[in-house]
Amino acid sequence: MLSLTDIRNDAEITQLIGSANHVLKEIGYTDHGPRHTGYVSRVTADILKALGYDERTVELGAIAGWMHDVGNAINRLNHGITGAQMVYFLLTARGMAYEEVCKIVSAIGNHEEGTGRVVSEISAALILADKSDAHRTRVRRNQYNENDIHDRVNYAISHSFLAVDKEEGVITFELEMGETSSIIEFLQIYLSRMRMCEEAAAYLNCVFRLVINGMTVNQTREFAQNKGVVIDE
Ligand SMILES: [Fe+2]
Ligand SMILES: [Fe+2]
Repeated sequence: MLSLTDIRNDAEITQLIGSANHVLKEIGYTDHGPRHTGYVSRVTADILKALGYDERTVELGAIAGWMHDVGNAINRLNHGITGAQMVYFLLTARGMAYEEVCKIVSAIGNHEEGTGRVVSEISAALILADKSDAHRTRVRRNQYNENDIHDRVNYAISHSFLAVDKEEGVITFELEMGETSSIIEFLQIYLSRMRMCEEAAAYLNCVFRLVINGMTVNQTREFAQNKGVVIDE
């Protein structure tokens, strides 16, 4: 069976990840190379593992995470869909079972906000992992541009962590933000991604909590009441 290690050692796939990162660098995006795909691969797998999914599902999640952005090697626009088509042929050519390939491509083809919807547990975990990669290390070395909101927001984030509590049914995305940006700027570019994370967490029977500088910023009334928090009328 095809493993994450096989995929990571594959020259053709490595080339595509490098090219995708190059294209995005040229048009001014933050890091989408092995740092990003490695994070997404690891966190997708961690989420599935923490929620008790079987080993092969965890491995398929890790492979989807590693390959999810290869469509950018062609064009940023609709890269989830073009990437899924490429990945279908890459994985079937390497002998992966069709059923497994389909699980991976449906997750990749649905990871972008705008066109993507949560379609499976792998898709949900991939969305949570991809949208939670916000950190100062994502700003390209020696390329910090204070006029770019993505750079400002990412650079301001000195700590970010996605925690899964299966017992409580809560997935918490925790951020520490410094002075180069603000919560409102974070929400300006991340709001639709955070909404997608709420949808993804709900698919996994969890509630998504976004905590910035110690404050839960997406507390719902239902969630607060379930946790016994009294809200003044
Ligand atoms: Fe993407
Ligand atoms: Fe991504």
